[in-house]
Amino acid sequence: MHQAGLWAKAVRLRWRQLMRLQSEAPLVLLFSDGSAALLVGHDSKREVVFLKDPRTPSADPPIAVDELRLEQLWQGTALLVRRARGGSLEDEPFTLAWLARMVLGERRTLREIVVASLALSVLQILPPFLIMVAIDRVLTHHSMSTLALIALILALIAGYETLLGYARREIVEVMSTRLDARLNLHVFGRLLELPIDFFERTSTGGTTHRISQVFKIRDFLTGKLVSTFLDTFTLIVLLPFLFWLSATLAWMVLAASLLIAVIIAAFLPAIRRVWANMVAAEIKKGAVLVETVHGIRTVKALALENARKLEWDERVAEAGQARLQTGRISNWAQTLVTPIERFIDRGVLLMGAYLVLSAPADTTGVSTGALIAFMLLGTRVAGPLIGLAKLIQDVEDVRSSVAQVGEVLNNPTESAASRGGLRPVFEGAISFNEVTFAYPGAKTSALDRVSFDVPAGTMLGVVGRSGSGKSTVTRLLQGINREYAGFLKIDGADLREINLTHLRRSVGTVMQDNFLFRGTVLDNIIAGRPNLTLEEAVRAARLAGAEEFIERLPGGYETWIEESAANLSGGQRQRLAIARALVADPRIVILDEATSALDPESEALVHANLIRIAEGRTMVIVSHRLASLVDCDRILVMERGRVADIGRHHELIERCAIYRHLWLQQNRHTEALGGQPTPKPAVAPAE
Ligand SMILES: Nc1ncnc2c1ncn2[C@@H]1O[C@H](COP(=O)(O)OP(=O)(O)O)[C@@H](O)[C@H]1O
Ligand SMILES: [Mg+2]
Repeated sequence: MHQAGLWAKAVRLRWRQLMRLQSEAPLVLLFSDGSAALLVGHDSKREVVFLKDPRTPSADPPIAVDELRLEQLWQGTALLVRRARGGSLEDEPFTLAWLARMVLGERRTLREIVVASLALSVLQILPPFLIMVAIDRVLTHHSMSTLALIALILALIAGYETLLGYARREIVEVMSTRLDARLNLHVFGRLLELPIDFFERTSTGGTTHRISQVFKIRDFLTGKLVSTFLDTFTLIVLLPFLFWLSATLAWMVLAASLLIAVIIAAFLPAIRRVWANMVAAEIKKGAVLVETVHGIRTVKALALENARKLEWDERVAEAGQARLQTGRISNWAQTLVTPIERFIDRGVLLMGAYLVLSAPADTTGVSTGALIAFMLLGTRVAGPLIGLAKLIQDVEDVRSSVAQVGEVLNNPTESAASRGGLRPVFEGAISFNEVTFAYPGAKTSALDRVSFDVPAGTMLGVVGRSGSGKSTVTRLLQGINREYAGFLKIDGADLREINLTHLRRSVGTVMQDNFLFRGTVLDNIIAGRPNLTLEEAVRAARLAGAEEFIERLPGGYETWIEESAANLSGGQRQRLAIARALVADPRIVILDEATSALDPESEALVHANLIRIAEGRTMVIVSHRLASLVDCDRILVMERGRVADIGRHHELIERCAIYRHLWLQQNRHTEALGGQPTPKPAVAPAE
């Protein structure tokens, strides 16, 4: 539903609600026999609803149905469908404003928090107020019952505080969980929408580190932000009360808190600077770590451990330096702030005591009880005030985290192309017309006015020297790179007009190195496509020549494959990848050097299956081993991004110097032995 730009929700309705329905949005009634009908209107005077059967022609008039007849079929389940909200958060750049909108989007929770906080704050005033009354009115009478009263009240306070703490933590937890889930879903969804060339341009370590900053944002949103939010309410309620208790003392607390805010604000520019350094250093460090783990085979095989260690040492030192600098500056700020915090704690008490002692209560307005009440509440006010000031600093941190995540997420996504566009059923005719393409940042074009046509069902071989643009041709076909000039058509439909997800689902691809996911063999073949079954997986495995080895595995299709599939041989892994590409029965299959890394025996096995695989499909087979392409219907010869020639093997041997040269390079030994690996006798090299 989401993919078609629609939003749907299952609801339960009663007849009376159908009669009162005002919404313009379509409503689908789901019947108990599994069918469904569209509700197109109702007439509350005649007590009927108008239904349309989706299977009848759209010109047919809707059927009027009354309550009795509807209830025979309908139990009250309905599907509410409407257009996904335009300009939704999902498409907007990831910024602080975006975050703010997401938080504000939690309107109901926020309202609950506001109401609860106000109630909690009022409750917080009560105990100190009672104490004040108890001390001022009762203590003077020197009675034992007063002590008992105070004890009782203190117990009450403890009870209150326990409850308040509980309620507050509960609210925060609920809100945290919701925000966390929304944030994580959003970030991952966006990450997957980024085009492959983004991941090719950036280091994995850098990207993962940047994305992991989301956790910091989450912590801020759900920790500091929410608690400051709650505290602010306490503040709003408590401040007037404090001023009522003693304006002098209240002003002192306010002034001290303000001073703290000023100090923290003064440190901000410096903190921002060192913070940026630290982030940069951490990203570099993360890149080394991920790269090393990723390339650990090479590191071990070439005994590069020491070199990596040296590099790591440097990065750790750099990051450590930056961290120390940041810590030092924060420490200075904290050091300057501490005495003021203590003043709020204790200075105000002394000051208050002085006020109580030096003048009678009726002139200064401060009684002993008021002083004690003030002490009980004062720290509750100072905390939030300082918290608000520190919030500025935290907002800075988060701004930097948001910027980092945004650096990844705010790249152009493929989402528009994956949502709209045509979804034709492919036959498999491919046509390149004057296609020119250069990779972003490259000086020369990877493809230069490439033109060729192949009808559906062709087995197309692609050959050429390394770097001649073979893989680029396949990448354009899969819609990985889309900024090409010229026209690329499948069955006459412009590739740019085709829905990207549909395109990639309709094109099966096997590369030289294929990633197998952790999971069973079956999981890997089906690869999460929900409508596929074991039967289809077995069929695909048979086609790929993987069946015999899968059946010999200890668990068969349920055998667990670890990350990077260490328990399978290269040939087995490749055949599994081919099965995965074939399982959805794509009309177009691309094999880009799929057998190049295989031993001759595995290669022969895969090639023996190619003819069967090719039945009813268009195949694009890139291979540098020309002998495996001899049987192709057409062979495309690439040279420096241009099409040098296209034709059958025997034609090319005769007329294409590049092809002949490549052929002889690989088959000279057989020539020398007088072997004839070609259908046609080879001719001497032209050069
Ligand atoms: N992801 C990429 N980014 C930038 N340049 C690339 C990328 N992939 C390939 N190229 C360049 O494009 C040219 C064609 O590469 P490619 O199509 O991979 O060649 P082939 O598959 O024939 O060996 C080469 O010059 C290569 O350096
Ligand atoms: Mg290649």
